[in-house]
Amino acid sequence: MISLKGKNAIVTGAAVGLGNAYAQALAAEGVNVAVCDIREEITDLPAELQKSDVKAVGWRADVSVPDDVRMVVDGAMEAFGGIDILVNNAGVFGPSTADDDLDKTLADYDLIIGTNLKGEYLFGRAVIPIMIEQGAGGEIVNIATDHMVTCGTPNDLCPNLPSCPWNKGTNEFDGPPRPTGGGETMDLYDASKWGINGLTFPWAKVLRPHNIRVNALCMGATDSYMLRSFHNFDPPPEEVEAWMKAEDSAQLLIDLLAEGPKGRTGENINSCIGRPCKLEPPLAPIYITKESIDVN
Ligand SMILES: NC(=O)c1ccc[n+]([C@@H]2O[C@H](COP(=O)([O-])OP(=O)(O)OC[C@H]3O[C@@H](n4cnc5c(N)ncnc54)[C@H](O)[C@@H]3O)[C@@H](O)[C@H]2O)c1
Repeated sequence: MISLKGKNAIVTGAAVGLGNAYAQALAAEGVNVAVCDIREEITDLPAELQKSDVKAVGWRADVSVPDDVRMVVDGAMEAFGGIDILVNNAGVFGPSTADDDLDKTLADYDLIIGTNLKGEYLFGRAVIPIMIEQGAGGEIVNIATDHMVTCGTPNDLCPNLPSCPWNKGTNEFDGPPRPTGGGETMDLYDASKWGINGLTFPWAKVLRPHNIRVNALCMGATDSYMLRSFHNFDPPPEEVEAWMKAEDSAQLLIDLLAEGPKGRTGENINSCIGRPCKLEPPLAPIYITKESIDVN
């Protein structure tokens, strides 16, 4: 485990929800944090983070707009002199179905793919050359969803994690395989998150020689503005009780980063509702490419 103190991070979409918890947890570990969001209140967050005795800066910025991305990355460089950690968190949800008309479809596509996939792509492209140039390694954490990894895993590929609710202590995969995907109004949201695999895995492989790790956090239902909006901001208390907490996901992020440069890379790290939110041991090498686990 390494100390994160003194490192420099960018967290996108940090005004509320998970991004806010990630920014707060990083600051509490002594990390300087640059934040951005389309919400006005993002400009209040740096003062809050500075209470942890770290440097913090923030901008109102849209992750889907290249000039906004440049502004945030240039601003973080100016404020901190380097970038060690990128948390690609900003995301939106909107219902979409297979029979939507074309006008709605195009508007949904621009919003959901533009934020969830293009935003992560642009921030990666802006930050990766800086991390390589710095020569000190780095961490990229893409925020995805458990819709990509909740079971449907074939028996012979099941990692059989100790905390899996279907793990019966044998090599057998026991229980109904939960299908991947989040439901009938989530095709575009899931497409945006599955698309992140196309960034996480190749980046992990290509950047391993530079000691830059790339992983994705794939959490289940977590109490946030987004999730509450699904319930018109009046969710049944028993549902709220079952939801994961943003703070737990933030601790998972810190534990992942604390693995340091020799830690795992190229993994979708799953944290399902109903099971402990903790960092599992790295997956066996068969799940990731040899290049992504060889450390220089
Ligand atoms: N809450 C969940 O159950 C859950 C589960 C799995 C994955 N996720 C993912 O976690 C991430 C955070 O979600 P959340 O639940 O905290 O949502 P949230 O809506 O509570 O917070 C998302 C933040 O991103 C910001 N944002 C949206 N579009 C933006 C843009 N174009 N540019 C900059 N900022 C933008 C919002 O203003 C908001 O502050 C998202 O990527 C989401 O898809 C959430």
